[in-house]
Amino acid sequence: MRVTFEEGSKRLGNGEVLAIPTETVYGLAASLNAPRAIEEIFLLKRRPADNPLIIHLGSKDEIGTYAQNLPEEVQALAARFWPGPMTLVLEANQDIVPPSVRANLPTAAFRVPSHPLTRQLVGSVGPLVAPSANLSGFPSATCAQHIEEDFGEDFPTLDGGECSFGVESTILVYDVDGKWKVARQGVLIAEDFESVLGYAPELLGLSQDKGVLCPGQFHRHYAPRAELKLGYDGYLGTPETVVGFSDRHYPGADAIFLLGPSTAPEVVTQKLYDTLRRLDKEGCEKAFVDMEFPREGLWKTIHERLIRAAEK
Ligand code: TXA
Ligand code: MG
Repeated sequence: MRVTFEEGSKRLGNGEVLAIPTETVYGLAASLNAPRAIEEIFLLKRRPADNPLIIHLGSKDEIGTYAQNLPEEVQALAARFWPGPMTLVLEANQDIVPPSVRANLPTAAFRVPSHPLTRQLVGSVGPLVAPSANLSGFPSATCAQHIEEDFGEDFPTLDGGECSFGVESTILVYDVDGKWKVARQGVLIAEDFESVLGYAPELLGLSQDKGVLCPGQFHRHYAPRAELKLGYDGYLGTPETVVGFSDRHYPGADAIFLLGPSTAPEVVTQKLYDTLRRLDKEGCEKAFVDMEFPREGLWKTIHERLIRAAEK
């Protein structure tokens, strides 16, 4: 059910859950001050309680209220990338960030979104917690219709159109060695941070550290019901369903799902989750995915999402 901005902000203010657009992916939002709605988010998504939520703030100036003992680069990172698709994991002010939001960790994740409707909402309701608006483990939602697919037609949704980026924010954590690390690849790439940090942050490996530093990354993610066969050796011409690129040919394929051109990663990210969702909608059980694309920049994020999507 699509609701107006007024209706949506009223619902959030009343302690209800609302699906909201952001520039990255849609979120399932609740006010930071609505403990029951926060609990409901975990139930609705079937999200494990050990996977903490991101807090969406209206302005970078609020960070000092909700987080403390900030590493010195925070101001410069915030000035450069907020509003926008960067999430920072910081020491939480535990008096005002409820334990359920941060999965009982001493830290919490924060970002200042740039979508005009999200900004307006946060401006009128205050900080919003919002995980991606999808059933836990499945592809994220990048338009209002995806919300209806996952949560039913009656689910209250503020329709902000198709998300401009289509994949999640990039999460940075401050590691014990005094260096920032990328805990989740996303819209921003490691090199984007070089101008502020003086180095491109390394990717946190899937080690024990990562479990502690970014718990959500251990869970199943982004996977459609369809089984994905990642094609590193090129398409062999077998009759099968293909997920591929619009500037390539897949002769003999049964069906082709196009991600966009192999020259435009920003188009591919925008179409990625919708393409994975369409496989399921069209009853496809198995698909070959063309993995022949560069391993740099935004392609690294696409590569990581497809690998996770193929995990069972
Ligand atoms: O683009 C985005 O970030 C979207 C939109 C809606 O803002 N949100 C999103 O939320 O992707 P979600 O819940 O799908 O992913 C949140 C990620 C998880 O991987 C979680 O582990 C991590 O943020 N996270 C949250 N709090 C954390 C914390 N205190 N320490 C480490 N990681 C944290
Ligand atoms: Mg998610």
